[in-house]
Amino acid sequence: MKREKFSSSFSVFLATLGSAIGLGNIWRFPYITGMNGGGAFLFVYLICVLLVGIPVMISEFFIGRKTRLNPVLAFEKLGGRKWSVVGYMGIIASLLIMFFYSAVAGWVYSYTFKSLMGKFNGVTLETSKEIFINTITNPKGVILWQIIALLVVAFVLAMGVKGGIERATKILMPILFILILICDIRALTLENSFEGIKFLFAVDFSKLKSSSILTALGLSFFKLSLGVGAMITYASYFTDDDNLMLTSLNVALSDTLISLLAGIAIFPTVFAFNMEPSYGPGLLFITLPLIFSKLPFGNVLLFMFFLLTSIAATTAMLSLVEVSVAYFMEVKKIDRRKSVFIVTCIIALFGSLAALSVEGNVLSNVKILGKSIFDTFDYLSSNILLPLGGILISAFVGYFIRWEEVVLEIVKNHEYRNSVYLRVLLYVLKYITPILILVIFIKELF
Ligand code: PFF
Repeated sequence: MKREKFSSSFSVFLATLGSAIGLGNIWRFPYITGMNGGGAFLFVYLICVLLVGIPVMISEFFIGRKTRLNPVLAFEKLGGRKWSVVGYMGIIASLLIMFFYSAVAGWVYSYTFKSLMGKFNGVTLETSKEIFINTITNPKGVILWQIIALLVVAFVLAMGVKGGIERATKILMPILFILILICDIRALTLENSFEGIKFLFAVDFSKLKSSSILTALGLSFFKLSLGVGAMITYASYFTDDDNLMLTSLNVALSDTLISLLAGIAIFPTVFAFNMEPSYGPGLLFITLPLIFSKLPFGNVLLFMFFLLTSIAATTAMLSLVEVSVAYFMEVKKIDRRKSVFIVTCIIALFGSLAALSVEGNVLSNVKILGKSIFDTFDYLSSNILLPLGGILISAFVGYFIRWEEVVLEIVKNHEYRNSVYLRVLLYVLKYITPILILVIFIKELF
């Protein structure tokens, strides 16, 4: 089987950015930034991206492109059999994330459809809450929409790296960008929109808590799709001459920009209507439909907003599912379509358990160590496997691989081999990145 590749550095950038941009940009990043001191938090977040995000991303890129293999075989090739455990951990983590992520993606798909059908015309706070509760507690509905979201992802992946992932991200990423800009312009031209901008950007160090640093670290990890093998898998399809250092910088910065643009679309609107900014589901599924319904052409805007959220979630899921698809293709020697089918069935099975375990739905009484199935999947992946993967990946590249070999791969065909950045990178990768992640990991566990 000949291994596929992306066709250009720009395609590499769009696909990788597609993985990074997701639900995280829209329902986590803006709110966390606002609550933790706006500009002050942003500053801390950017430092985390520089000291942890980018070094881990470059390490994953190195492992993927050097070996051109899925995470399990990639670790085995570079470090011997015992290191393949890190690859398996990535596969498990990416599946666990998919189980709950696809449930939320299903809600977003259903909201996109509902807003297209004008279901939110004239909603009040009560009816908006009611629609949300009905949406997430209706067993047939949640499963139907989750499966639709999974089928879209499966359809794209079945067409391969170039014909599927590359083509889809080339079409979808520009649409996402245009939609977000339209929502931004509308938000900024509302009266009183400045309050929202202040919430998001005003530098307020007094709101920066000690926990904010850990929050920023965890967020940078999830945001940049690190620690689960997604970036290893995508990098195994990168072009030969892609500058891995530049790509990681571009992706990290563009992803942060999109998070800020999402915040600019959301908070000025929330404040213009004197609403409270809230976190996650409440903001996205209850407050926003209510506010948009009060705007002229609000239903069109709401549809655009949910469409862009669906796109973001979908391109992120492509990379999450591809981790296991690549594994089945290369380790189990199953062809792409069958691999996609098998992985989609596994996710549909466990993912529907996650969707049905949400408060008020049929499995909400099932608890694992006091948590719902949904929360257990989230906890195991985000709080345990992701940081553990990050520590192992950065330590592996920092300590077990000859640095010259790494440098040769990450700046292939480019001039600055002896640049000071590369020396700083090695230092950060060895002495800062794994230790910082270890700190969050221990803190989150206890
Ligand atoms: N980066 C995605 C987001 O911010 O929503 C989530 C994600 C995608 C995490 C892919 C991990 C991953 F491998």
